[in-house]
Amino acid sequence: MSKIIDERLMAAAIRYARRNIARTKTNPSVACIIVRSENGKDQIVGRGITAIGGRPHAEPVALAEAGDKAKGATAYVTLEPCAHHGATPPCAQTLIDAGIARVVTAWVDPDSRVDGKGHAMLRAAGIDVETGILAEEARHDLGGYLARKQQNSPWVTLKLAISKDGYIGVKGKGQVKITGAISRAQVDMMRSYHDAIMVGSSTAIEDDPELICRRPSLKSRSPHRIILDSRARLSPKSRLVNSLDIAPLSIVVGPNADQTNIDALQKTGANIISGELVDGRIALPEMLEDIAATGISSLFVEGGAKVANAFLEAGLVDEVNMFIGDMMVGENGITAPINRQLPPAGFSLVRTEHFEDDVLYVYRKGEH
Ligand SMILES: NC(=O)c1ccc[n+]([C@@H]2O[C@H](COP(=O)([O-])OP(=O)(O)OC[C@H]3O[C@@H](n4cnc5c(N)ncnc54)[C@H](OP(=O)(O)O)[C@@H]3O)[C@@H](O)[C@H]2O)c1
Repeated sequence: MSKIIDERLMAAAIRYARRNIARTKTNPSVACIIVRSENGKDQIVGRGITAIGGRPHAEPVALAEAGDKAKGATAYVTLEPCAHHGATPPCAQTLIDAGIARVVTAWVDPDSRVDGKGHAMLRAAGIDVETGILAEEARHDLGGYLARKQQNSPWVTLKLAISKDGYIGVKGKGQVKITGAISRAQVDMMRSYHDAIMVGSSTAIEDDPELICRRPSLKSRSPHRIILDSRARLSPKSRLVNSLDIAPLSIVVGPNADQTNIDALQKTGANIISGELVDGRIALPEMLEDIAATGISSLFVEGGAKVANAFLEAGLVDEVNMFIGDMMVGENGITAPINRQLPPAGFSLVRTEHFEDDVLYVYRKGEH
């Protein structure tokens, strides 16, 4: 198959894998598309995606749909097929047994149980293997899984809504609408693609947000909420606690946090994470390592200004989603650590999108 066809089919697999992002527990959402060439025509004969909860994997689902048509066909898989035995045989073996002739992947799986062994098994069975196809495109969605496996840290996206005059809110005023309804709907979508959302204690206390996906169709995809609250100041009566039936809530506290309040929060069903302190603030790299160990691969940091600044200064942000709204805040504004004129250092602009009068600027770390 030509490189163009390979890329088109891999692009289809990447799009398909998006369906179950953040719904596959500690497994990444992977897609497999099986394509058969007959009389000069390519036909998709099987499609599979990692199931909600993480199992079954994409390959056996796609092979089951393809049946006998898998013999001699090409499998496009967004991540290297697994090589290790669990309750079910490794996916690489399942592809071999089905008579697949060629496997095209975007990424090697960095999990130490796989890490090239899946590709090696396929090659040893005489299967033609090509990897690295549309790797950069697939990285956007697999980024969290890859970061957790390679760096013991989730993929961190910082999202901020900034007024035309460079502010994220008004001192002492709680939540201020900086962007319009369409941007807020986009934020709901973005939340649903992440394993967890994080804000600082001031945002949690002053704004009293729920931090869920507000749209009814997305509510069940609301991610885990995590609050950086070194002194355990969050009220057990807050809306974050009152929405525990919609999504889990974790509070990262320091060693000197108020024990009575910790007990009261724990009684509600909120989870307490013990953090370390550096200069009176939760130590971020250690906290990221701790939450990655629980299987959180992607973290959506939503502010406020102090938390955004701390993540940026520590070099812990992978992507910035900067919404610039069409309003002015004026007096008593809370200054955003970045803005359109002061983009994050060491990042490059990869995409711009317009939502009514708002503009979203997406930056990624490094050169692109
Ligand atoms: N427009 C937007 O996108 C947006 C988004 C979110 C919030 N906001 C606005 O921002 C305002 C609050 O922002 P803010 O800057 O005052 O506070 P913040 O960033 O929400 O919270 C800061 C607090 O978090 C706690 N914290 C724990 N560990 C930390 C660490 N490593 N780094 C930084 N903070 C840490 C500290 O309080 P403890 O000592 O209690 O632990 C710190 O004072 C609100 O008015 C809200 O409406 C706007």
